[in-house]
Amino acid sequence: MIPIARPILGEDEFAAVKEVLASGMLAQGPKVKAFEDAFAADLGRKHGIAVANGTAALHIALLAHGITQGQEVLIPPLTFFATASTVLFCGAKPVFVDVDRASYNMDPTKVVGAMTRKTAAILPVHLYGQTAEMDPILEAAAERGIPVIEDAAQAAGAEYHGKKAGKLGATACFSFYPTKNMTTGEGGMIVTDDDDVAAKSRLLRSHGEASKYQHVALGYNYRMTEIAAAIGLVQLRKLDGWVKQRRANARALTKGLDGIEGLLPPSEGNWMVHAYYQYVVRREDVFPRSRDEIVQDLTEDGIGCRPSYPMPLYKQKALRDLKLRGRCPVAEDVIPGLFELPVHPGVGPAEIERIVAAVEDVARRD
Ligand SMILES: Cc1ncc(COP(=O)(O)O)c(C=O)c1O
Repeated sequence: MIPIARPILGEDEFAAVKEVLASGMLAQGPKVKAFEDAFAADLGRKHGIAVANGTAALHIALLAHGITQGQEVLIPPLTFFATASTVLFCGAKPVFVDVDRASYNMDPTKVVGAMTRKTAAILPVHLYGQTAEMDPILEAAAERGIPVIEDAAQAAGAEYHGKKAGKLGATACFSFYPTKNMTTGEGGMIVTDDDDVAAKSRLLRSHGEASKYQHVALGYNYRMTEIAAAIGLVQLRKLDGWVKQRRANARALTKGLDGIEGLLPPSEGNWMVHAYYQYVVRREDVFPRSRDEIVQDLTEDGIGCRPSYPMPLYKQKALRDLKLRGRCPVAEDVIPGLFELPVHPGVGPAEIERIVAAVEDVARRD
């Protein structure tokens, strides 16, 4: 089986973890600080605040920007659940802005129309490893005087107009879950240039504790461990090479799939460096097999293929009854055709050949 994702952990990571275990210092300490500094420096950001996971990063970043009850936050409907749930954790409402048909990211032309006087932030997602079309989103936010918080959970290593994902909005949030472009097991990071947001984030990540047993805010235990940070420091050094490998794999897949009628490979926007967290293909009606049949056929052939997100978030059971605004016809139209193929750095030329041959074989069935 060629897995859809696989973390790459080698001797360097083992040695880094061993060093932490031998030190006896396991909870947030010097490794976390070193990881924060290295991650922020890599993006050219002033502050990095490491947390337990990407969901915690989003929750804290929203709170640090003052998002609260009675407010609305613009998000896309085609993303992981945490983009919406964290807005709700703050007591605010996610408002859904439809996606662009080519990139599947938030459609910038629909942002202004989704704003109301309650709109307090925009939370675009850099889906599948490619940044949202940020310039018009940033412009719309600036005109309203509200922040843009990037959900960069999937986009470590991506670029937009020569700037890295995570350096585009006021604040950005990353996830280091094991399937991501780099991992710490579980982990997340907030990056920002805003001193106030950074200070609030640091407070909220650890019980609102300003000094020992002095709690000045209702915070959480969202700290990262030293073990996770030690792994992250090693993985960060390898990130650029892995992204290059992902991009080479994506190019080879697109070349191989070229000419198969009814399958649309992912598109890379102008001035963007897609980090290919996922390689997502869209099945169109002329293709002889349904999306679910494609997934089943390829899985039986030993290719780790799976559908992308099953529905726009507002149709998820947990959100259905909340009367959230924003119906998204483009998302509803594209979602049933989307499926993912393995593109991670563990995939080599022989595997690419196998994947392409298997897809060609599916295309010949009816
Ligand atoms: C777009 C997006 N946002 C947020 C998250 C949440 O990250 P985590 O799983 O680390 O909590 C994820 C990852 O799974 C994600 O893909």
